[in-house]
Amino acid sequence: MNTTLIQTTTAFFEKAFGSTPEKVVLSPGRINIIGEHIDYNDGYVLPAAIDKVICFAFEKNNTTKSRIIAIDLNEEFEVDLTKKILLSDVVWTNYILGVIKQLQDNGFLFEGFNCVFSSNIPIGSGLSSSAALECGMIFGIKEVFDLTIEKKDIALLGQKAEHWVGVNCGIMDQFSSVHGLENKVIKLDCNTLEFEYHNADFKDYSVVLFDSNVKHSLFTSEYNTRRNECEEGLSIIKKHFPEIKSFRDCSEDQLLSIKDEMNTTIFKRIYYVIKEISRVNRACEALDNGNIKLLGQLLFETHEGLSKEYEVSCNELDMLVDTAKEDNSIIGSRMMGGGFGGCTINFIKKGHENDVKNKFSFHYLNTFGINLKFYDIKISNGTQLNTTKN
Ligand code: GLA
Repeated sequence: MNTTLIQTTTAFFEKAFGSTPEKVVLSPGRINIIGEHIDYNDGYVLPAAIDKVICFAFEKNNTTKSRIIAIDLNEEFEVDLTKKILLSDVVWTNYILGVIKQLQDNGFLFEGFNCVFSSNIPIGSGLSSSAALECGMIFGIKEVFDLTIEKKDIALLGQKAEHWVGVNCGIMDQFSSVHGLENKVIKLDCNTLEFEYHNADFKDYSVVLFDSNVKHSLFTSEYNTRRNECEEGLSIIKKHFPEIKSFRDCSEDQLLSIKDEMNTTIFKRIYYVIKEISRVNRACEALDNGNIKLLGQLLFETHEGLSKEYEVSCNELDMLVDTAKEDNSIIGSRMMGGGFGGCTINFIKKGHENDVKNKFSFHYLNTFGINLKFYDIKISNGTQLNTTKN
């Protein structure tokens, strides 16, 4: 599937710049099994990179300007690297400008380059196409100019670029885009950035994403609000239990004992966080033990929390998960990513995928008048150079 993408990108580059690219980079989107809205709350998450990627072709151009072409949008822009980098009105260019700014601010030396890119990661579906864009750009610039940047720092620079654009995101998306490994999920400690790989062996179940095909505009403002609400909640906990440094140190009983010290919204948010941190640990154990039934149950619980306590779901996502609960072929389902639209992640009994897809398509179209889309996912490698010969 990605072979065509690589060929198109390379051919486009050759036509636009009259030369063969020096480096071709692939940078993937991600799924997250469990641990939602937990990265910026210093807990654990369980994401994985997927086989949907952005393909970039790069070369140095021996000037101080860079020219970047987005094939899919049929747009391009130029940036003068000697001038101060400022936000632009064209949203997609900001992720790239952000990356250039972060590299410059952190003392990395590089000059002008030409770049062409094209993607098969659906945009606005919660699969982190922006993290793939940031990490792929950094990786490409590093390769072309022989910079030494560790994987972890690629992720951190990408995250800072995203903050510059306006979403105060955690580290999960960039980290998993860079560190992905075929058939492995990553258990990441978002506090220390220590991580370990676990086998993505879901036994008799396939992972299928249902794309609600909606993206409610609340996303950025609500996302940033959740971060603030959680910070407020943590500071209240710390006042009562000075030994607690982060949510992972706080038990449910401790939180319940100070419930009256905070407003109900703050309580709901942080109750979700504390329960979700514990669910990630239990889910990872269930996966290691091949207990996919338990893993699935935990996914349903996470959705309930995201919908009722963290309040980042929406009617479309709730309906998909409610319908999944009633379906004997689906063992677990929840909204995935930041919320307010995008995908649900589903564990479907192997052999039943087509029946399930037909049923959900029909039901979703009937209810919302919107076409549901499906992605069959393969867990794949992180940001890397393309090594296949064309
Ligand atoms: C977005 C952010 C991530 C993470 C998820 C929710 O994808 O970019 O950092 O917070 O939402 O888990």
